[in-house]
Amino acid sequence: MRVIVASNYDEMSEQAAALFAELVAENPTATVLPATGNTPMGMYRALAQRAGRGELDASRLRVFQLDEYCGLGQDDYRSLFGWTQRSFIEPLGISAANVTRLPGDAANPEAACASYEQKVIESGGIDIAILGLGPNGHLGFNEPPSDRSDPTRLISLTPESIVSNGPYWGGEDRVPRQAVTAGMTVILAAKTILLVVSGKSKRSILKETLQGPTTPNVPSSFLQQAANVTVLADQDAYRF
Ligand code: GLP
Repeated sequence: MRVIVASNYDEMSEQAAALFAELVAENPTATVLPATGNTPMGMYRALAQRAGRGELDASRLRVFQLDEYCGLGQDDYRSLFGWTQRSFIEPLGISAANVTRLPGDAANPEAACASYEQKVIESGGIDIAILGLGPNGHLGFNEPPSDRSDPTRLISLTPESIVSNGPYWGGEDRVPRQAVTAGMTVILAAKTILLVVSGKSKRSILKETLQGPTTPNVPSSFLQQAANVTVLADQDAYRF
């Protein structure tokens, strides 16, 4: 595991974008699992700027949605699909045909999760996962406890995640209680993982992620055992 500490959020975002751009140059049709959440947004803006300047062609990437709230159509303003589209897919000019949704509105979520996993396998697995760090150590919506062998599945949000997701949607009461998430198996098997972490509020969970015992109670701790992980943190987050 490699840890890169940047002096602030903007620098971290630029460094993450630079690393990602290198990976895309090496493999322009890579499969990507991009997180939503606030942390990667600076990185995505930096990528959009590079694409706008003609320094990056990410248009042939194949995108797999990382996670989604249940019961929301893709056009619902709260959907993580919509957020991924606005922040990553559209600014980078990736065509809809290259995007695999993880549908939160499927009539049969278990079947939808199985079909998603099948598509990941058929595509050769995930090349690049861009992850944020949940305040409780969740990756995507792999809430604690999540083991390294947990597949893509339906989960219930923990009370802590309902609180931490509240600000995205203007209040805890608006946060859906269930979600579907790419499994720990899908995430941990990614050929390259970029984990972006910013701010004082993530300091203790980052320490547990990097230095604590590997345990389902901190799903992100399993990153210690993944093959090719780069953690990009700002100084506020990495100070321990
Ligand atoms: C959310 C998402 C995760 C995200 C994490 C951190 O609940 N499900 O995919 O990485 O929490 O979010 P943020 O970057 O806003 O702290």
